[in-house]
Amino acid sequence: MLAIETSCDETSVSVLKGKQVLSNVTISQISQHQKFGGVVPNLAANLHLINVTKVLEKSLKKAKIGWEDIDCVAYTKEPGLSLCLQIGEVIAHTVSLYLEKKLFPINHLQGHAYSTLIQTEKEWEFPVLFFLVSGGHTQLCLLKDHFSWEVVGDTKDDTLGECLDKTAVLFGYDYPGGPIIEQLAKSGKNSYQLTVPKNDKTLEFSFSGLKSQVSRLVKKEEKRLKVADLACSLQLTLLQVMKKKISNALKKYGQVKSVASAGGVMANHFFCSSLNEFLSPKFSLFLPKKQFSTDNAAMIGMCAYYRYLRKKKKG
Ligand code: KG4
Ligand code: ZN
Repeated sequence: MLAIETSCDETSVSVLKGKQVLSNVTISQISQHQKFGGVVPNLAANLHLINVTKVLEKSLKKAKIGWEDIDCVAYTKEPGLSLCLQIGEVIAHTVSLYLEKKLFPINHLQGHAYSTLIQTEKEWEFPVLFFLVSGGHTQLCLLKDHFSWEVVGDTKDDTLGECLDKTAVLFGYDYPGGPIIEQLAKSGKNSYQLTVPKNDKTLEFSFSGLKSQVSRLVKKEEKRLKVADLACSLQLTLLQVMKKKISNALKKYGQVKSVASAGGVMANHFFCSSLNEFLSPKFSLFLPKKQFSTDNAAMIGMCAYYRYLRKKKKG
């Protein structure tokens, strides 16, 4: 399976043999977007064009396969930046047309879910509660089966990832903020009192108020601001939101057998270990390995592999 991901600012190509990831080569464009404070769609598309053939060649070489060994082609169809998605789409269509191989258009968000099945023998038991925490989305989803997918909770405004990214900017750092906040928090104490947003019984999220709280504190404290402490308090507040909403969902959907969480924010060791601890021993949380948390093509390939299995079963 050859898989291509170009939905945002990572150009990534992966080769999988069944569930085994033979290669996953990614060129990140982060440093080229940093001076603009976020991803610039036109620039991202141009950089994908420059990088994609290099990444493709490298990925095949690393997997030690040739074009003739490819059986299926997968690519991210949606959601994402349309100019960027089109590049992956054209390449995938061309390769599949030329090699006369099956094509799998994949939903990026479902791809994140399947990142939790990479490099593990474990399989989900349905129904699955999936918590997606990325820069673009903060959603709770209920999966009754593979590809039977219902969004049961969403954000009313910002995403959790955006909250981290915007806070880092307030602290004077570049995009992406998540890894910076994680690093700062390691040496901080929980000395700032932040209100837990939407601390209610619903499955809805809201982070814009929390961002404003942080912004007011930064302005008020000025030179007295203990950045590491605020990072630590913010992470703890966000963890409380995560725990509360997961508990609400588990209460509402008592039949859930597996819980999985993925998306860029799950590259955060503190969130991963705290959530794991919170859910054990009833659930052992399905999480992606760190290298498969942020956008990558291996998760797209893994999602396509499960689609392929399903198609084969249905005949
Ligand atoms: O999944 P992703 O790569 O892209 C989207 O599909 O949105 O997620 C990007 C998000 C950004 O908000 C970034 O700050 C966050 O993931 N992120 C992290 C960490 N690494 C990336 N958040 C917390 N801790 C991290 N170590
Ligand atoms: Zn993503």
